[in-house]
Amino acid sequence: MTAIADFITGLPKAELHLHIEGSLDPELAFDMAWRNGVQLGHPSIEALRAAYAFRNLQEFLDLYYQCMKVLRREQDFFDLTWAYLSKARDQGVRHAEIFFDPQAHTARGVTFDAVIEGIWAALRQAEAEWGLSSRLILCFLRHLDEASAFATLEESRPWRHCIAAVGLDSSEVGHPPSKFTRVFAKARAEGLPAVAHAGEEGPPAYVREALDLLQAVRIDHGNRALEDDDLVRRLVAAKIPLTVCPLSNLRLCVVDDLIHHPLKRMLDLGLMATVNSDDPAYFGGYVADNYLAVHKALGLGRGDLIRLARNSFEASFLDPAAKGRLMAEVDAYAAAWPVISPSGS
Ligand code: HPA
Ligand code: ZN
Repeated sequence: MTAIADFITGLPKAELHLHIEGSLDPELAFDMAWRNGVQLGHPSIEALRAAYAFRNLQEFLDLYYQCMKVLRREQDFFDLTWAYLSKARDQGVRHAEIFFDPQAHTARGVTFDAVIEGIWAALRQAEAEWGLSSRLILCFLRHLDEASAFATLEESRPWRHCIAAVGLDSSEVGHPPSKFTRVFAKARAEGLPAVAHAGEEGPPAYVREALDLLQAVRIDHGNRALEDDDLVRRLVAAKIPLTVCPLSNLRLCVVDDLIHHPLKRMLDLGLMATVNSDDPAYFGGYVADNYLAVHKALGLGRGDLIRLARNSFEASFLDPAAKGRLMAEVDAYAAAWPVISPSGS
């Protein structure tokens, strides 16, 4: 590894945009298919990996929902989450805020309990063994209707002590945040803050709706907010974090080349951008791989990388004392590293 890759890997960081089902890699998918007697739509690991060529979000989602059918039992959700946390730990993740899509499982006859008990056990074990803290964010699938989201919110009631926030994901265009205003109002009244995917493929108006109607405290992706100067000023003034996912944006053709990725522009505009992996099994890299990719493509320097790591804790749901502690760790880590030459080697 180059010096800069070492620096990035060890940099203490939080991951705030990670779909646990999107960390299901082909090897684990085939293991689970075999042990659960489920047929995957592709004959081999190689054939499945070869299908990872997406022209847009929907093409990815079609495969994402197909592959997650191998997740059937509590143990599967434990193994999936444990595998993610192990990789995240190896990439310097000290805190992870993890999305899960209960409707994608309960619709297949898997119980809410099996899903959350498996995920939760792995989160607790990672915290006990490694000090890797976490939060869980229940996402509503926006291509489904409001009634299904309400039912899912209700189903989560026995597990509220495990759920830090609600989110909104899946097919964006045609499914604006306004479709879920009432569900998010109910969640908020019950103490659950909101985040929402917005501005990945959808227009800046969807980002506004996420803020105004869902009262989102964080925007997932947010790329297209940059098309609206007033909106950018608002996001900067309110310090609304954006959970940006560079390799996802590349693989889903949100950007045509990483050299055109807006992350550097976001930082220069004063936005609180963070770097995350989204669905790392599908998009070619975990969180440190994303940092390294934008370092290479956009020339993000040491100061930018440190700022991104600090932002990741600042933008988290951690309490102020934990944020302060982890940001101080970032600063101590950076201070202990010799200044890296511009070539990065
Ligand atoms: N966008 C929207 N929904 C998703 C994504 C994404 O990148 N990944 C998993 N669900
Ligand atoms: Zn996402």
